[in-house]
Amino acid sequence: MTSNDEYIGEMSSIEDIATIVRSCSKCGLSGTRTNAVPGEGSDSPSILFIGEGPGFNEDQQGLPFVGRAGQLLDELLGVVPLVRSDVYITNVVKCRPPDNRDPLPDEVRACWPYLEAQISLLKPHVIATLGRHAMNRFLPDARISDQHGRATVWRDIVVFPLYHPAAALRSTNLRQTLENDIRRLPEAVLRSLEISATAAPQTEAGASAPIDLTPAETPSGDGAGQNRLF
Ligand code: URA
Ligand code: SF4
Repeated sequence: MTSNDEYIGEMSSIEDIATIVRSCSKCGLSGTRTNAVPGEGSDSPSILFIGEGPGFNEDQQGLPFVGRAGQLLDELLGVVPLVRSDVYITNVVKCRPPDNRDPLPDEVRACWPYLEAQISLLKPHVIATLGRHAMNRFLPDARISDQHGRATVWRDIVVFPLYHPAAALRSTNLRQTLENDIRRLPEAVLRSLEISATAAPQTEAGASAPIDLTPAETPSGDGAGQNRLF
C-alpha cells in the first residue's frame, strides 16, 4: 500500500475524498485536466451511479454528467422519478482522458482507491454502472449486452449495469432500453433492502447473499462474490 492509499484510508467524509481528488497527481491525467471531478450528490444515496470518466464539460465545470449525456441521465432519472440530489454520481476515473479516449488500465488502477473509499462511505444499496468500462470494474468478464438491467451482488452491494447515456444518444433503441432498465432501479433497491434485512453479518470479503440466487457466470478475480439476482 502506498502512503497515498493510506491517506485515502483515513478519509472520513465524502468531502475529504473530494479535496484529495482535486489535488491528486497519482496518474498522468492530472497533467491534462482542467478540473478533477470527484462526484456529487447525496451523502447517503440509495443509488450510486458510476460513469467512465469526465468529458469536456465535466472537466470545465468540475461536476459529473453536465453535458448532453448528463442531460439525458437527468431526464431518465425524472421518469423513475429521481433527482440528482437523491443519488450520488461519479466516475471510474476522476480526471478527463484527453480527447475522450478510454481510460488506460494504469489510470483506472490509480484512481480505484477513491471509488472504493466513496463506496465504503456512501454505502449505496445499488451501484448503477453506466457503460461497459464502469461495469467491468465490478463484473470483469461481463458483456453489457447480456448484463444491462440485471442485478448481481458484488461484495454485499447490488450492481445494476446500464448502457451509457452517451451511447443512448446515438441510438433510439438503446435509449429505450436504457429507459426501461432505469425504470427498474427501484426494484433493484428493494431487492438490496431484502438482502440486508435477511443477511447474516457479512465478512470483509463480502460473502454471497443468502437468498435464492442463480450462480454468477463470471467467477474469481475482482468479481469474486458475485451472484445474479435477476
Ligand atoms: N460521461 C461519463 O462517463 N462521465 C461523465 O461524467 C460525463 C460523461
Ligand atoms: Fe488522481 Fe484519479 Fe485524477 Fe489520476 S484520474 S490524477 S488517480 S484523481
